[in-house]
Amino acid sequence: MTAPAIAIYGAYGHTGRLVADELLARGRDMILAGRDPDALASLAAELEAREARGGASVRTHTAAVDDPGALRRLADSAAVLVHCAGPFSRTGAPVAAAAAEAGCHYVDHALEPHHVKHVFDTLQATAERTGTLLVPGVSFYGGLGDLLASAVADGLPEVDRIVLAYGVLGWRLTTGAKNTAAQLFAETERLTYADGALSVGYVEPRNAVFAFPPPLGPRSTLTPFPSFEPLTVPRHVPTRNVDMMLTSSTFEEPEVFESEDLDDGNRAASDFMIAAQAIYEGGNRAGDLRGHDLWRVAAVASVEAAVRIADGAGPVKTGVLAPAEAFPAREFLRALEAQGLFDAHLPEPSDQSDQSDPSDPSEGS
Ligand SMILES: NC(=O)c1ccc[n+]([C@@H]2O[C@H](COP(=O)([O-])OP(=O)(O)OC[C@H]3O[C@@H](n4cnc5c(N)ncnc54)[C@H](OP(=O)(O)O)[C@@H]3O)[C@@H](O)[C@H]2O)c1
Repeated sequence: MTAPAIAIYGAYGHTGRLVADELLARGRDMILAGRDPDALASLAAELEAREARGGASVRTHTAAVDDPGALRRLADSAAVLVHCAGPFSRTGAPVAAAAAEAGCHYVDHALEPHHVKHVFDTLQATAERTGTLLVPGVSFYGGLGDLLASAVADGLPEVDRIVLAYGVLGWRLTTGAKNTAAQLFAETERLTYADGALSVGYVEPRNAVFAFPPPLGPRSTLTPFPSFEPLTVPRHVPTRNVDMMLTSSTFEEPEVFESEDLDDGNRAASDFMIAAQAIYEGGNRAGDLRGHDLWRVAAVASVEAAVRIADGAGPVKTGVLAPAEAFPAREFLRALEAQGLFDAHLPEPSDQSDQSDPSDPSEGS
């Protein structure tokens, strides 16, 4: 019996191609989808010409986001759909809805809080009725923060504050990421989670210093950084506040917005540290992920999720779930670490002592 096919929507974009590479490396049958039939055919020919294909079959399917019939036929033909075409505020809703209605499991690369909220708010009942699992944001921004918060707070009965700080150096945006960043920065309706309540409204962005563990050290950050963890982390961590930060220098590098035509090698040259703190009465716990090439990390995270779901190794539940509700956070992060994507410094779940030292490379490994 062959494994069920995994569809990639937005397959010929940068993220979609990395997802296709990873599926090919795992010998998985795939359906390349998007709105441009010529770009799909050319990518299919390129993948089929690769020697190390492991027998994987590659099909194509053309579907525009405003063509519900074509999206439905795509969703009917796949076990899992990995949505890679953004900004998700423009492309997310129709693709996620087609998947939910067809009973095709779904993961995406969104970090946009409003898209993720829309999926939770509008597709929960449909997904439960059709037995579909939808996990928006199994990616670098958003997904890894959600998983890391869960791993760091594991076992704590009550948490006052989860602080998630992304330290990113050398990020070079694609067209899709540039359009997404422009939309997010222009947005005045921010999602925040404070004093046990989710709010939507204007919050003035400010700079705050966050003390990343060495070698990054204390850095100026932009906060709140608009990513969806304020919505998802309280679903699985008993916290009263979620703070989001991103190093200010990430968007101050002159090349960051001038990199649409960069080659893949140069685009891969980013370094990151995602640090999480769980602050509770009487102490705090910390952990972090340190690695390179956030684009590849994002793609492999989504493939790891899609393959687990396709093979029946995903969650037993259906409906819309946060990444850390769908997968056991510590084990999922360790599985990505084992693929060489990053080093994960995680406190032991039973260790409720103060000030675990995430800079100690021996810790948790
Ligand atoms: N959360 C994270 O950490 C993370 C990580 C990676 C990517 N992402 C997100 O993933 C998205 C894609 O990023 P990327 O780097 O792959 O960008 P990219 O290389 O510019 O590719 C964008 C892809 O989206 C397609 N697309 C855009 N608008 C579309 C529409 N209205 N209908 C159908 N297809 C459309 C493009 O097709 P055309 O060429 O036909 O326009 C292209 O295939 C972005 O939103 C980015 O923010 C997030």
